[in-house]
Amino acid sequence: MIASILPTYSRAPLTFVSGEGSWLVEQDGRRFLDLGAGIAVNALGHAHPGLVAALSTQANTLWHVSNLYNIPAQQKLADALVEQTFADTVFFTNSGTEACELAVKMTRKYWFDKGAPDRTEIITFSGSFHGRSSAGIAAAGSEKMTKGFGPLLPGFTHLEFGDHDALQAAASDRIAAIMVEPVQGEGGIRPLPDVCLKGLRDLCDEHGILLILDEVQCGMGRTGKLFAHEWAGITPDIMMVAKGIGGGFPLGAVLATQNAASGMTAGTHGSTYGGNPLACAVGAKVMEIVGDDAFLAEVNRKAALMRQKLEGLVAAHPGVFEAVRGSGLMLGLKCKAANSDVVSAGFRQGVLTVPAADNVVRLLPALNIADTDIAEAVTRLDAAASGIAGGDA
Ligand SMILES: Cc1ncc(COP(=O)(O)O)c(C=O)c1O
Repeated sequence: MIASILPTYSRAPLTFVSGEGSWLVEQDGRRFLDLGAGIAVNALGHAHPGLVAALSTQANTLWHVSNLYNIPAQQKLADALVEQTFADTVFFTNSGTEACELAVKMTRKYWFDKGAPDRTEIITFSGSFHGRSSAGIAAAGSEKMTKGFGPLLPGFTHLEFGDHDALQAAASDRIAAIMVEPVQGEGGIRPLPDVCLKGLRDLCDEHGILLILDEVQCGMGRTGKLFAHEWAGITPDIMMVAKGIGGGFPLGAVLATQNAASGMTAGTHGSTYGGNPLACAVGAKVMEIVGDDAFLAEVNRKAALMRQKLEGLVAAHPGVFEAVRGSGLMLGLKCKAANSDVVSAGFRQGVLTVPAADNVVRLLPALNIADTDIAEAVTRLDAAASGIAGGDA
């Protein structure tokens, strides 16, 4: 008989009942150091007092009103995002994949209104992940995500990640947009070098192509800048955000320039829950904390500390690990052992990590993880590696 929860997830045999900071408590009482943070969602860890207070205050005031009316918390968050980013305007969603849907719709409407309704093709890259909606799976295009779900939404050209020649050949005045993650998450923590992101921006400018950045996983302070593209000194036309922006409350957003958003007039898009008062009250608090320069400086300091310790870990276990990669606190351990074995060995040592493609183990801790927890995490990963065949090398 089918399980009462649709069996689409392969879950680890762990049931967490509470959390505080970077720690989760299993129902049997064991404490786990959480280096997954809900896959980059719990940007400020679990039960952050500021977020709890923001949510409680809003919950005691007003849970939900329709987007038929003004929502002050939504306005506050939109204003903060506009003030601190390239964007002129923001639409709130509940998830990353909904942000992808809107990014695609916005692109199509843009070209339609410019009198080029056939300019619909969006270039995407192998190893990318843009969510599980129809647009999201069609955008990523991998067999793993699309098999059995055809006919797929048309309008995507898939290129090999890092194949500059293919990109140059494909870019033309017929392409509507290029959609890319500045750091691929699910694809195995693969950062796009700054020089490539700059080149991509130039290529888009040359042909009038819209640049869509998917910062669902790498955004909101994760790489040590508020948004990852800031490292390259460029700006996109459209950006997808989710995960960390809500600190654990479901929230996503599409940020755009006035020009890119010009087709999205009243009645062209909407959402019942997107920009809900509870989500935006939490989001505004996350933004207040993460958008602060001193906080981001701390993220960079912690990232350097963690990376240094991880380099030592890799050197101590050459039979298990190959290299550390990533940006800021979006780190990956490229493994020689099966990454699933490393994640499982971590469970036994009370440390949570997340597998990714390319045989990588992802480390996406809370951005405010304590230095002592970084040290403890690496001690536990060291014990985990020692427990794997070949791990004592
Ligand atoms: C880069 C990226 N885009 C989009 C998504 C989809 O977000 P969601 O799961 O909130 O729909 C994810 C989720 O992992 C992601 O990592």
